[in-house]
Amino acid sequence: MSERRSRYFCMPILEEKGYVVLSRDGEAIDPGEWRNLEYVDWKSSGDTRFAPLASVSGGIECNAFWHFDPPRTDKDGVWIESQVATAPTIARKAMEVEANVGRVRIIELQPNTFADALYNSHLDDNNRLNPEGEGWVVRVFQNLTDDETSYMVLREDIDDPSTQTLIALPAGARIVVDSQRMWHSVWHDGDEPRYCLITSYESGPELEKWIFANGPTVDVETPELDEEMVVQAEVQAQDRRRKRTERYGYDPTTVRSEA
Ligand SMILES: [Fe+2]
Repeated sequence: MSERRSRYFCMPILEEKGYVVLSRDGEAIDPGEWRNLEYVDWKSSGDTRFAPLASVSGGIECNAFWHFDPPRTDKDGVWIESQVATAPTIARKAMEVEANVGRVRIIELQPNTFADALYNSHLDDNNRLNPEGEGWVVRVFQNLTDDETSYMVLREDIDDPSTQTLIALPAGARIVVDSQRMWHSVWHDGDEPRYCLITSYESGPELEKWIFANGPTVDVETPELDEEMVVQAEVQAQDRRRKRTERYGYDPTTVRSEA
């Protein structure tokens, strides 16, 4: 049994692959909800900004909860009134799961390449200070913009392309990811920024119930990509990753990220 499963409640549905894809959320959301939010610069996986909807104590803040006094894990996030008022539909999406939330944020990601995505791939640090015996913290991603030709790139092993799954990101795409286990990033093949709701949830019966009510599957259609581009991207990304590791003296993406 993994350390994860022996020390925390982990949802069996995530054990096989480390992710599940849910049915698309068909509710239209006014783009003003994400455009009018207050963003903070927060570098994660490329050229990004974040708008928090829930934070450590209800302020406009994206930092992990263990940086505060008293330090705590990524649970018991406090809703930010002004942001919830600006984006009520999006906030309701996160709230209707009824599981304990930690950080709730909207990410803005500028367009990038497949090679960039592989370079940016990382593991999250969702469970630092999580008390033993409680639920393992995972993340739910709901794409807000309609990015049908963009993909979430998941790998069990970042150095092994055969462990990869690409999940298309049309508006309303929803993916539950154990992002401390799965390497992840997004390849955003677009002209405009991509926006996505990212919520940290504690694993438990409430989250399981919501997942099962929304058609979970790991049966994901593999897109047809240009083979030459894929080979080039892999070589370029691994080269850039190697150079970064040399520069730091270690691979910073293997040290779990706060992003
Ligand atoms: Fe991440």
